[in-house]
Amino acid sequence: MSNPSLLILPGDGIGPEVMAEVRRIIDWFGAKRDLAFDVSEDLVGGAAYDAHGTPLHDDTMARAQEADAVLLGAVGGPKYDDLDFSVKPERGLLRLRKEMDLFSNLRPAQCFDALADFSSLKRDVVSGLDIMIVRELTSGSYFGEPRGIFEENGERVGINTQRYTTSEIRRVARSAFELARRRGNKVCSMEKANVMESGILWREEVTWVHQNEYPDVELSHMYADAGAMQLCRWPKQFDVILTDNLFGDLLSDTAAMLTGSLGMLPSASLGAPMENGRPKALYEPVHGSAPDIAGQGKANPIACVLSFAMALRYSFDQGAEADRLEQAVERTLAAGARTGDLMGPEGGTPLSTSEMGDAILKELDASL
Ligand code: NAI
Ligand code: MG
Repeated sequence: MSNPSLLILPGDGIGPEVMAEVRRIIDWFGAKRDLAFDVSEDLVGGAAYDAHGTPLHDDTMARAQEADAVLLGAVGGPKYDDLDFSVKPERGLLRLRKEMDLFSNLRPAQCFDALADFSSLKRDVVSGLDIMIVRELTSGSYFGEPRGIFEENGERVGINTQRYTTSEIRRVARSAFELARRRGNKVCSMEKANVMESGILWREEVTWVHQNEYPDVELSHMYADAGAMQLCRWPKQFDVILTDNLFGDLLSDTAAMLTGSLGMLPSASLGAPMENGRPKALYEPVHGSAPDIAGQGKANPIACVLSFAMALRYSFDQGAEADRLEQAVERTLAAGARTGDLMGPEGGTPLSTSEMGDAILKELDASL
């Protein structure tokens, strides 16, 4: 059997810098764990625009559809700010998400003990935190019709439409319940069923999926505004949070920031299963291309490294190896390794991107 395939799209800014460290880690798993991937690399974002005049070439799109998983760095940068909307770097990423139909966005909020004092919340509240936000990614307010800016009764009106169908809600709900079974077996679904019809439907359909397909998982419901409060008050009450596109955008950013730096946050976006049973999947750090530090070897590669760990777990059924990598990161931090973004005002000498890569590889070696 051939090796599973991994398409790597480093992109712009710090994307290629953090991806270089992930490439070393991928090679490590090939050499030391007999876990080889067919890795290929291609362009996305500004890098693709520079080469082809489009932020995502059709050939790259086709390769992404074929790949067992796609790992992306970051796209964008000031160089591309004045480009027409249709060819902006971000459009390359949006096209990938849309054409791969990646409806389930997984955003973990996990607190590494060594960084607990970095949180704006008390150590008690965040230490040991490990929650997963599942955000619907392809529908809702960001896509619903009608949308636009119109003229009405002599003034302008801006319109977006929150719209969800039964099938859209059920498929993302299934993804959340599946995930919960592999974790703490609890799902809390968040909407605004008190004021929005789309929220009423959401609650009914999530309840339907629960009763008919996942009665073994514990399900609760919460209004999204109360959920935001609870996330800041006592986040450890949650395991998996299931929510729509708009609320998920806000709640996942809130949850993520409980735990520290942007340089630490991975994500996965999953679609329907392919013929081989694997879901279509795109893994990427939450951060952008960080033009302020790009090209200086200052970027923290951990968000991208942890995105690869998610790929091991959710695309390649290598949960134990994903644990190994996450624990190596945890021990690296516990030993005091810090890139600049993880240092407080007291300062010290930060590690470079590749030195952080070295430190993680050393802990991986020690795990054998
Ligand atoms: P950003 O995430 O690139 O940077 C925000 C701040 O966090 C900066 O000070 C940056 O230096 C720091 N930072 C981010 N990642 C870091 C890391 N790994 N290590 C150390 N420090 C890190 O967001 P910003 O500045 O709003 O956007 C910059 C560009 O990135 C824009 O063109 C934006 O459109 C694009 N962007 C792309 C995303 C993507 O590819 N998914 C997501 C967000 C923004
Ligand atoms: Mg956001």
